[in-house]
Amino acid sequence: MTFFLLVSQTNSLWKETFQKFVDTKANGPSSVGADLSLHGFRHVYGIPEHSDALQLRDTTDGEPYRLYNLDVFAYELYSRLGLYGSVPLLVAHKPDRTFGVFWLNASETFVNIHQSPVDHQDEQTPPVKRRRVQPQTDVHWLSESGVIDCTVLLGPGPQQLFSQYAQLTGYQALPPLFALGYHQCRWNYTDEADVKAVDAGFDRHDIPYDVIWLDIEHTDGKRYFTWDPAVFPEPLELQHHLEKKNRKMVVISDPHIKVDPDWSLYREARDGGHFVKDREGQIYRGSCWPGESSYLDFSSPVTRSWYSRCFSLDKYKGSTPSLFVWNDMNEPSVFDGPEKTMSKDAVHHGGWEHRDLHNLYGFYQHMATVEGLITRSGGLERPFVLSRSFFAGSQRFGAIWTGDNVASWEYLKISIPMVLSLSLAGIAFCGADVGGFVQDPEPELLVRWYQAAALQPFFRGHSAIVTKRREPWLFGEEVTAAIRTVIQQRYCLLPYWYTLFHNAHTSGLPPVRPLWVEFPKEEKTFTEDTQYMIGGALLACPVTEPGVQEVKIFLPGCAEIWYDICSGKAYKGDRTLILPVTLDTVPVFQRGGSMVCRSAGSGTCMADFQRLPLAVTVALNCQGSADGELYLDDGHSFKYRDQKAFCLRRFTMLSGRLLSRPAGEEGTFDCETVIQSVTILGVKDKPSTVSVHVPGTEDMSAAFEYSEACCMLTVISLNLRVVMDWEIQLS
Ligand code: GLC
Repeated sequence: MTFFLLVSQTNSLWKETFQKFVDTKANGPSSVGADLSLHGFRHVYGIPEHSDALQLRDTTDGEPYRLYNLDVFAYELYSRLGLYGSVPLLVAHKPDRTFGVFWLNASETFVNIHQSPVDHQDEQTPPVKRRRVQPQTDVHWLSESGVIDCTVLLGPGPQQLFSQYAQLTGYQALPPLFALGYHQCRWNYTDEADVKAVDAGFDRHDIPYDVIWLDIEHTDGKRYFTWDPAVFPEPLELQHHLEKKNRKMVVISDPHIKVDPDWSLYREARDGGHFVKDREGQIYRGSCWPGESSYLDFSSPVTRSWYSRCFSLDKYKGSTPSLFVWNDMNEPSVFDGPEKTMSKDAVHHGGWEHRDLHNLYGFYQHMATVEGLITRSGGLERPFVLSRSFFAGSQRFGAIWTGDNVASWEYLKISIPMVLSLSLAGIAFCGADVGGFVQDPEPELLVRWYQAAALQPFFRGHSAIVTKRREPWLFGEEVTAAIRTVIQQRYCLLPYWYTLFHNAHTSGLPPVRPLWVEFPKEEKTFTEDTQYMIGGALLACPVTEPGVQEVKIFLPGCAEIWYDICSGKAYKGDRTLILPVTLDTVPVFQRGGSMVCRSAGSGTCMADFQRLPLAVTVALNCQGSADGELYLDDGHSFKYRDQKAFCLRRFTMLSGRLLSRPAGEEGTFDCETVIQSVTILGVKDKPSTVSVHVPGTEDMSAAFEYSEACCMLTVISLNLRVVMDWEIQLS
């Protein structure tokens, strides 16, 4: 490893001109960099956010990957330019080692990647003549300011790497359960009647959803924390209306504050010294949605706690505990600034130049907002805050999304590697605007987008102000039905998603994972980014192309069995399957050896689904065994943490016997949830009896159905309390 530090003091370098912008370098020019050679590694990933493939490319002949948070409307695809957030974590993988390099620097950063040997010979050279050369990846980091603070994470496997990284930067916050449901957003729902009509539309069309969102137009002249009295005169009544149906509202709160001395919040921020300053010591001004604006200095702990208090129910008029928050434009976006962001020579709390902490600006706003919502509830309730900008560690605060994408098939396709790269870098609660933010999707694209997004962690439909309305029922019954099906399936799968989020919260393992994370020895998985794993059990391969009649799916693992979750049909691993598809098909396979819990039934939102019984699907592997976990708690408070009010169960199936036991530490959550049915895939012979044993009661025989064609056994009419120990025996 070689380091270099360059600090030059040539006078001309103390000032830089870019278009009409002058960057005065009060501390002189500087940069810090390091070269690292990763011996034996050919596959590197991470350093989001870029709209690019999962595997990082060699940058020798092109631009380096740039980490500089910027507001890029309808961003270019397959580009290494910086987007809204940055995580300077690079992950390298080879069959026997996963390795990470964390470069903790929040100034503008470039990453160059050089791979050797260059593999030109591979295609044409006959196999016998191919040289066996050890691959190597050289990584060059270069940051504009600050110090070298670089941590090498040694793995050796992906799980250890995630845990090491979470120990350094924090674990994924456990979201309130509703936040894993479906979110309906639009710039903008125009008034209270519009919000109520859209809300009623979901009920009329029998589509569950949990949250309706209000964009900037809900405010009084883009003054956040206010309501436009003409169109949102009764915000409390509106929230109560939704709350009666157990639904929530999210409103936008951006970091720019309209320069308006008649507005008390502006005056408070100005008089309290809460704004970023320019290099002359005056309050920094730039233009954003409200016109002339100043920018809160979230790097200051005093400003953060002032901002947090703005979310208290008495201060934020018209807000209720069922109102949650969306932080946008927090790169920060400055319409008339260099590259549409803040000048690097602006000055923050403690005299830090903006250049030193640019990539942390959104992180700190997210932090302060989350703190505000927690404090608002007296420390009892889990917050939900979505942020557009982020940095390493933003996972501790909530969700992020991939910004202003476009309604095209290419953007649908890129959403998968973008979500995977974010997940690898710890930002596990992420998703892309369903349907594409810019332009209007054709109905087929909209359906395919819902299908794909229902299998990603954060699931929100959103569209720009000039787009046509696109609530799920506006495109005819076939489209409505297809969207209804996937949203309902998403809700049914939430016990599994929630268990995965609990796992991310405690172990650092992200809910969605590139295939190689689960199959680290299989080189064929290393470049795969059209399909991925949801937890260890489900392989998802959403359709992202128009008019297709079949899709090719790679099922990894020569010793694996995969079950199509629709048909129950089993396939051996290590093959490429050609699956016929219709508009309704969403290819998902359950891995032999795993278990998945689903809610059995339907409902209008999360609260309904939480009350439903569960159905467990056990997929047997070649040895006839399987295991899995289920995590439950009240879904909204911190009691799981403060009072151990959770339930964590482990199910194990071996030699025809399925056991439910506590997984590790026993929690105190006493819920009524029951398991109603257990479906076991891969049962070769019909059992003569199935008996159920609950300690302290007499053994009972259970009703079951068996399909010989699918080797599928379903034990029905069970009424097994999740919190109890029990056993099911096939004989
Ligand atoms: C930005 C956001 C977008 C939002 C719009 C108006 O473009 O990325 O999601 O709708 O601003 O607030």
